[in-house]
Order: sequence, then C-alpha cells, then structure tokens
Amino acid sequence: MNTAILEKKASSTMLADVLEGLKKPQKTLSSKYFYDMRGSELFEEISDLDEYYLTRAELGIMEKHIHEITAALGERVQLVELGSGSSLKTRLLLNHLDDIHSYVPVDISADFLDEVAINLQKEYPDLNIEPVAADYTQPFDLPETPDDVTKIAYFPGSTIGNFTKQKAADFIGLIADLLGDEGGLLIGFDLIKDRQTLIDAYDDSEGVTADFNKNILIHLNRELEADFDVDQFEHKAVFNEEESRIEMHLVSLKEQSVFIDGNHIHFEKGETIHTENSHKYSLESFRELTGPYFNKVQTWMDEEGLFAIQYLR
Ligand code: TRP
Repeated sequence: MNTAILEKKASSTMLADVLEGLKKPQKTLSSKYFYDMRGSELFEEISDLDEYYLTRAELGIMEKHIHEITAALGERVQLVELGSGSSLKTRLLLNHLDDIHSYVPVDISADFLDEVAINLQKEYPDLNIEPVAADYTQPFDLPETPDDVTKIAYFPGSTIGNFTKQKAADFIGLIADLLGDEGGLLIGFDLIKDRQTLIDAYDDSEGVTADFNKNILIHLNRELEADFDVDQFEHKAVFNEEESRIEMHLVSLKEQSVFIDGNHIHFEKGETIHTENSHKYSLESFRELTGPYFNKVQTWMDEEGLFAIQYLR
C-alpha cells in the first residue's frame, strides 16, 4: 500500500471511531487523539507545570532509589518499555542496570520507535536495542532471549491510570502472560490525595492543560474536516469519587451543532465530551488489581506520598 492509501484508511477508522464516541449519550473522544504534533508539545509543557506533580515525583523516586530499584531487577535483564522510551527515567535504568541483555521499546508508532532507537543507540553504542511496533494493550511477542535472561516490563508515567479499572485489570493479566513465571513489572501509579491537589494538576493556572484538552478539537477539525468552534468549548477537570479518578471534559458553552464529514452532532448548552480519565489508587486498591497475577511486591514512594513505583513479580 502506498502512504496516500494508508493515510486514507487511518482517517476513515478515525472518523468511524470519533462518530461512535460522539453519538453516545455521554459523548466521548478517545484520548489517543490528543497526540498530534501540537498535543505532544503541550503534553511536555504539562510535565513542567508547578501543579503537575506527577512527573517530578516519579523522577524523584527513581533518582533517590535507583540503586535499590536496579538491584531488585537484577542482572541479565530484557527491559521492555511499554510506550515512549525516550525519558530520563529510562536512561536512569539503563545507566544502572548491570549486564543488561537488551532494551525493547514497544510503541504503536513505528516512526517514533525508529527515532527513539536511533537516538538511544548514539548514547549507548553497546546496548542491544530491539524495538517492537505494537499496540501493547493487545497480545504481542517479544524478541527471544536465552534462558538466563529475565523479562522485565517497565510502565512509567501512571499511564495505567488512564485505563478504566477493567482495562487495567486486563492489561495487568496480559503483561503477566507476556513476562512468564520469572518476569517482573516495574510500574508507576498516582496515589489518592486531597481533591484540590488532584484537580489543580489537571486544571493548571496557566491553562496549558485546557489548551491540551481543546487541542483534540483542533486535531479533529484538521484531520476530519470537522468544524468545531474551539472557543465555544471549555476545559473542565472533575474528581469522580466513585471511580476514584480525575475526568477531563470539554463543556459546550452554548447549544450548537458540529458537522463532521456530513454528520451532524448536536450539543446542548453545558453538555460535555469526556476526553480522559486518570485513575488514582491507594496501595490497597492497586494491590487488588495486581494481586491475581503478581505475588511479590516492592514499593517506593516520595516523602509526601504523592506517587508510587512498584516492582511486581
Ligand atoms: N498518565 C498521566 C496522567 O494521567 C499523563 C496523562 C495522560 C495526562 N493524559 C493526560 C496528563 C491528560 C494530563 C492530561 O496524569
């Protein structure tokens, strides 16, 4: 297939997916549409915000406990990073793991993976990098390794929090299968804390998260020739107690209609599009999730108890 046909196919699945979400009683848009070029930039800005404590807290834990963490992971590791693969946290692990067997970044975007692999190889000329282009929420295969190598999945960034409880449980099961009996999972997750701290992290004073959320509409306007009037939608972050999660919504500021490829979508004033979830766990509720698959747990936290990293076997 040439790229023009591929792109056409990609946007027709995107159209079907977007329309399905917007025709539900509670309108939704998949958070994957956040990440066009501008979305990725805005997301990096979010990481630097004062209110967005997550990235700093996780990196701080890694820096402080890196010797203990890498000692727990052991030697002769096949380090399988689920998503991204370009972060400071990854480099910390690569710098401190003894006799690492290989580094396997897994990402849905083959282009992104190539870039990560090329850059990382320059920094780590001796590292055996074996990228796998896959959707890691679905079963996939890892490169084969000798018997003495331990498979360890690395899933930072509290991305587990962006899955619903059911999807998170399915995902943990899938990863447990992938790793086999001797494998381990190093995972970061965000902890329940006072409501204002949580809301501020997803509704910052500079409005960067608002721009990030609204950028999804700009992305749809461009990609699907939709006609969202971006100024007529407002960013909102709420904490849903029952589900223990931050929800991001886009609130329609008036009654309005949007056209997407000949389809007419109607909004009441105040009606919302639900765009993202970020689940917050306690050590207990996270244990409920992982308990069926992993029996050994080591936990590291920051002093304020904002964020946790666990190594599960
Ligand atoms: N997993 C992180 C979190 O939930 C990062 C993230 C994903 C995020 N989507 C987001 C952060 C949307 C802010 C807005 O916080």
